[in-house]
Amino acid sequence: MLNINGCTLEARRVDITTLAVDAIVNAANTSLLGGGGVDGAIHRAAGKDLLRECETLGGCATGDAKLTGGYRLPASYLIHAVGPVWRGGAQGEAKLLASCYRRSLEVARDAQCASIAFPAISCGIYHFPADDAVRIAVGTVLDTLRHMPRIERVVFACFDDAMLARYQAELTRCQAPPSKPV
Ligand code: AR6
Repeated sequence: MLNINGCTLEARRVDITTLAVDAIVNAANTSLLGGGGVDGAIHRAAGKDLLRECETLGGCATGDAKLTGGYRLPASYLIHAVGPVWRGGAQGEAKLLASCYRRSLEVARDAQCASIAFPAISCGIYHFPADDAVRIAVGTVLDTLRHMPRIERVVFACFDDAMLARYQAELTRCQAPPSKPV
């Protein structure tokens, strides 16, 4: 758990579809029409009306994010972010992943959200190396939140213990005061 500028960041091992936050972020693809992984779980839990709204959105570029309702989920909104497919690291993957987190927070702010939960975008089917992805996720969220005082709570929803351990270590590292020069 990390507290910074009035905002709490926490990592939890949890199925993201169960979280009663203002907005849940989905790790979507450019079609926004559903898929496997967390995307499949979100569409199954939200119900068919989510797909109907997604069909009106005209897809989404990689690195960008779009808002829908939450339908049968406890969350009020869904923010569908499209992470990069890992292709070795020289195709702008890190910047595109950072952009997903930044754009999701901007969309959440514009919808007046105070709490948001993220999955580990691109870390499943898209194969982004998890240690790098976690550093990018936490670093970008911390950076972006400086300009968003209304967002009070960020949850990093982890599907397994290994991912939870990564987020916890990174949050602890970011909490530590910078070491003094000798
Ligand atoms: N709650 C929290 N995390 C989850 C859940 C869940 N219910 N289910 C999976 N994860 P992935 P990607 C974790 O593959 O890599 C879809 O087909 C999972 O363990 O869902 O961005 C889309 O349509 C992993 O750590 O997303 C795209 O085509 C993380 O969520 C493509 O997959 C992300 O894994 C996107 O791939």
